Amino acid sequence: MSASDYRSIFPAAARGAPLDLAQVREHLDVKRLGTKFHYFTEIGSTNNYARELAERGAAEGEVVLAESQSQGRGRLGRRWESPPFSNLYLSVILRPKLPPDQAPQITLMAAVALAETVGWFIPQKAAIKWPNDILVDGKKLAGILTEAVCVPERVEYVILGIGVNVNYPIDSMPQELRQRATSLLDLTRIEVNRESFLRRLIQDLDRCYGDLEQSGFEPLAPRWEAHFGLRGQRVRIELLDQVIVGRARGIARDGALLVEGDDGAVQKVIAGDVIPLET
Ligand code: BTN
Repeated sequence: MSASDYRSIFPAAARGAPLDLAQVREHLDVKRLGTKFHYFTEIGSTNNYARELAERGAAEGEVVLAESQSQGRGRLGRRWESPPFSNLYLSVILRPKLPPDQAPQITLMAAVALAETVGWFIPQKAAIKWPNDILVDGKKLAGILTEAVCVPERVEYVILGIGVNVNYPIDSMPQELRQRATSLLDLTRIEVNRESFLRRLIQDLDRCYGDLEQSGFEPLAPRWEAHFGLRGQRVRIELLDQVIVGRARGIARDGALLVEGDDGAVQKVIAGDVIPLET
């Protein structure tokens, strides 16, 4: 949906002011991320554009930001609702010194940063739903879409895409989202300053990414575990050719989800869609 479609169908979702990037840059305390912003009022997908930039040699830390996306993408080919002037849609170009099998750690690192950023703005706890969702009170507040391009021995670049529902009124969401999505506005009943949130998010990402590069995922693991929303929960995981049912126990050092089956054996799940079950 384009920005003007959103404006005509959901006028309340499109009422905010444009982002003031000067305000974001002021006092932005970072080492590597957020050194350059590419800002668009409307774009197809910030991840697609960031990828084009990375292919043209853009530096690590450049950020693509848009007020709305006509083809915002989520994981597993899903659509990401991207109404204008109310939320945050950004993609960060990273060039981590990681072997390809450790690229999933970028998603985990970003989930820690995002959950911690959310903690500055709401009293409720932000829960990480492995691998890429941030939930509050069981509803989705934000999502991460990490796309890695690798050469055989190393990661060439990663596009870290993040979407956060900030000032998105529930009654402006498509009907099918209203039961399972939330926004900071919905949770706090007050409009959140998008510039403050964005500045905090980039700083938290910058620090978590620095920690990951310096010491690996291990020091970040307890922070990830502190927000892990599925511990002990019975889950169903749909893989390409298999379904696993068991209890989520945590994550392995490489970021895989650990699931204990009914026979007591613990399996590592690298990728999949996790559905929490009732018992
Ligand atoms: C998910 O929960 O499945 C991931 C959602 C990621 C959405 C963000 S919005 C900015 C960036 N550009 C996209 O097209 N997707 C990501």
